[in-house]
Amino acid sequence: MAQMKNKAVFYCQNCGFESTKWMGQCPGCREWNTFVEEVVKASSPKSTGRGAAMGSAAPAVLADIKIQEEARLSTQIGELDRVLGGGIVQGSLTLVGGDPGIGKSTLLLQTCWKLAEKGHKVLYISGEESQVQIKMRADRIGSFAEGMLLLCETNLGSIREVIRREMPKVVIIDSIQTMYNEEVSAAPGSVSQVRESTGVLLQLAKGMNISVFIVGHVTKEGTVAGPRVLEHMVDTVLYFEGDRHASYRILRGVKNRFGSTNEIGVFEMGQEGLTEVHNPSEYMLEGRPEGASGSVVACAMEGTRPLLLEIQALVCHSNFGIPRRQATGTDLNRVNLLMAVLEKRCGVQLSGCDAYVNIAGGMKVQEPAMDLAIVLAALSSFKNRGISPRLAAFGEVGLSGEVRSVSMASQRVAEACKLGFDTCILPAVCMKGLQGDGSMKLIGVRTIQDAVNALL
Ligand code: TYD
Ligand code: MG
Repeated sequence: MAQMKNKAVFYCQNCGFESTKWMGQCPGCREWNTFVEEVVKASSPKSTGRGAAMGSAAPAVLADIKIQEEARLSTQIGELDRVLGGGIVQGSLTLVGGDPGIGKSTLLLQTCWKLAEKGHKVLYISGEESQVQIKMRADRIGSFAEGMLLLCETNLGSIREVIRREMPKVVIIDSIQTMYNEEVSAAPGSVSQVRESTGVLLQLAKGMNISVFIVGHVTKEGTVAGPRVLEHMVDTVLYFEGDRHASYRILRGVKNRFGSTNEIGVFEMGQEGLTEVHNPSEYMLEGRPEGASGSVVACAMEGTRPLLLEIQALVCHSNFGIPRRQATGTDLNRVNLLMAVLEKRCGVQLSGCDAYVNIAGGMKVQEPAMDLAIVLAALSSFKNRGISPRLAAFGEVGLSGEVRSVSMASQRVAEACKLGFDTCILPAVCMKGLQGDGSMKLIGVRTIQDAVNALL
């Protein structure tokens, strides 16, 4: 057979757009100067698809296919299990993304520790740190059982051999950007390398029923390098995020073929690695000022989990012609919109005021249910009058100043009740079916004016 020629392809290093010629601007993501030439061996089998991994070309009758309960392996870390949808699915490929230094390696090392303790064989492959470095980190976490194997290697060919030989139950690849496949001549971390390496790992996972976790670093734009290419190949995408200066970390499911994607897991980074935070609301409200103006507690939902957050607002006289608006942890456009609604519907003169809105603790929430609390916090700061620290608020605010209903009102109220709040201000339409017990006073409001009348 005639030898096929190697082919040079240009890839956008930002979004993975493929082109046969170099371009200054990427038509995919509109970034400039992101195209890099990578040589792809045309003769190498392009068998990174799922069908090839499973080795069958015969169709099956859908009605005859039996559903087995996916075999799940508990990681013994409740918060991780929750995000994964109940544990690690055998033969699944999971991508764990996040900024460098956020704690991805630590989280996965701890997972290995727990799995090894349960008697499972796990293989941790690092292309970033030496064995001694990993040992030092591991010593901070605890003493590891027999089943934990460590390999410092970046060549996928050797890695494949080791996995075939050892047959571990779970494999960790830290990180995909350091791995290289000899069949691809591009540099490690480039789009074609990352894609080919993930393809090889996908085959290993599906073919041998091994669960594989891949660590992927995030570029400054906030996406895993070679992102779209990677995200569609794997079964589950988790992002590990948080403020590097705060100690809490949030694990968020972005894609999950085996469970819900709107679950979060909350962890705290300490001296001995990560610990789970079972009650995030309590954790987020720690150190809250009592009775200060501009501080209101909002009930947000993260997946099926209610979360109480302190909204802080500072509204003060502007020294410039154009007032300054700033939002930390929430959407600035939403804040601007709420300021406009407040001015028009409640007659508060905010156009000459700077406004700063912050979600304390560094959480990032975009939910419209936070609107009412943001409006109340801004008004409280403007009038310089404190709102009861035992009050929680939620509700979406519309452009005519109406307070609209939000989902899962009863869970939100229950969470506030659990944490000792005594008043909850919520959309009137959500009051149906909710009755305040003795300890909780519920105030249903139809417009923001109603809320203002009730409180200030
Ligand atoms: P790491 O897991 O190496 O991050 P990533 O793999 O995402 O790049 O996390 C490193 C950070 O975590 C580092 O700044 C030190 C901190 N850390 C602790 O605070 N306590 C610990 O017990 C460990 C192991 C790490
Ligand atoms: Mg790391």
